[in-house]
Amino acid sequence: MTSLTNNWLLVVGARPNFMKVAPLIRAIDKHNSSRDSSLVTIHYSLVHTGQHYDANMSDAFFRDLKLPEPDLHLGVGSGNHGEQTGKVLIEFEKVLMKEQPDLVIVVGDVNSTLACALAAVKLHIEVAHVEAGLRSFDRNMPEEINRLLTDAISDYLFTPSPEGDENLAKEGIPSEKIFLVGDIMVDSLLFHLDQAKSTDILSRLGLKPQSSDFRSSSSKLSVEDPERSRRAPCSTLPYALMTLHRPANVDDKQALEKIVRGLLEVSAHFPILFPVHPRTAKQIKAFDMEGSFQFHSSPDIKPEEYFENEALKRKIHCFSPLGYLDFLNLMSNAKVVLTDSGGIQEETTVLNIPCITLRDTTERPITLTEGTNVLVHNDPEKIVAEVRKVLDGQTRVSQCPSLWDGHTAERIVAILARHPCGGLAKHG
Ligand code: UD1
Repeated sequence: MTSLTNNWLLVVGARPNFMKVAPLIRAIDKHNSSRDSSLVTIHYSLVHTGQHYDANMSDAFFRDLKLPEPDLHLGVGSGNHGEQTGKVLIEFEKVLMKEQPDLVIVVGDVNSTLACALAAVKLHIEVAHVEAGLRSFDRNMPEEINRLLTDAISDYLFTPSPEGDENLAKEGIPSEKIFLVGDIMVDSLLFHLDQAKSTDILSRLGLKPQSSDFRSSSSKLSVEDPERSRRAPCSTLPYALMTLHRPANVDDKQALEKIVRGLLEVSAHFPILFPVHPRTAKQIKAFDMEGSFQFHSSPDIKPEEYFENEALKRKIHCFSPLGYLDFLNLMSNAKVVLTDSGGIQEETTVLNIPCITLRDTTERPITLTEGTNVLVHNDPEKIVAEVRKVLDGQTRVSQCPSLWDGHTAERIVAILARHPCGGLAKHG
């Protein structure tokens, strides 16, 4: 009997890639374990470009998501855009020439995504782009350039929601290349949520206090009485979770100052917890803004630090970036999430947690129309006004968008494995 084998290279580079590739690996393994002998066998290798390299930006995600060790590590590291993209391009081309894969799968919109897609297409190797079609229509964002170019050169474009298909159609991409498959991040979220809820991060952060003082007061969150809100009891104390790392927000001193002004007002209502991205940590220091932040050397914080210590009470509480499971646990218990990330807008929509996005555009508009997301840019008044709505219970209930069901990776693998052009299948 003839056996068919496809050789695929899966690429990861930066933090938001890891949770998009883990479900693909599970789906490929499931596909290969099928007893249907008419199916191709998929042989895959995992390539890590090394765009992110810190233990808490990369290794922690491999551990939490149970990703296999990369078969190849390009060790590219940080640099300016041209330098970083160029280094990945050079190193990945060498890999392609040696490995001669049938297909390269890239995910998301980071510099590694574009560089690896470009290296492959130049060698006439087919490229699949997972999370295609997203557009913020803001070409100042490096990710927007990466999205536009990666989509323009990919052979298979897997979109998370219908507006992705519309964007690609408007750019002249033939419909045969476009596949609406749903959001692959949601595969990871749903797969790990139960496990995430059992991590000890809430206790470590002092958010599950034992003190009767915290348990005895009223449970009503109140805008009028922030002190009371801060002490509102429940199994978890109320807190806001924040992420902030976009160059437009953190590389521009005025923009960062405006955001921080809004945040310090919010911190009167409940603590703001901020796992800080290395880029942001650097900028806070460079702009001499450390006075507004309390840097904790580990996420082991006592509740008194949020509520009783006058010097710390009105500061933004920072610690190192968290792994996937701890972050998911914190996000799913937060009163509100403040962010400039892309993926978090989607995750909060699925979790039905209010999301205030510190940007003026989003490439994920479905999170505004069907989810919990609102855009406030860097406007301190809007930040405070939206938090007030949350405190007053004026939050929208999200609808989970169609196909955000945890089976996106399976759909992708099934499509690629039975591609109608047959260009992929090679006799093994
Ligand atoms: C990148 C992605 C962005 C994504 C983000 C998630 C691009 C253009 N941007 O931005 O879309 O949302 O990852 O984190 O690809 N650094 C470390 N340790 C690391 C990685 C980075 O200290 O492990 C520092 C370096 O000083 C580096 C800076 O962070 O210069 C920025 O890293 P870089 O990969 O260039 O971009 P991000 O801001 O992380």
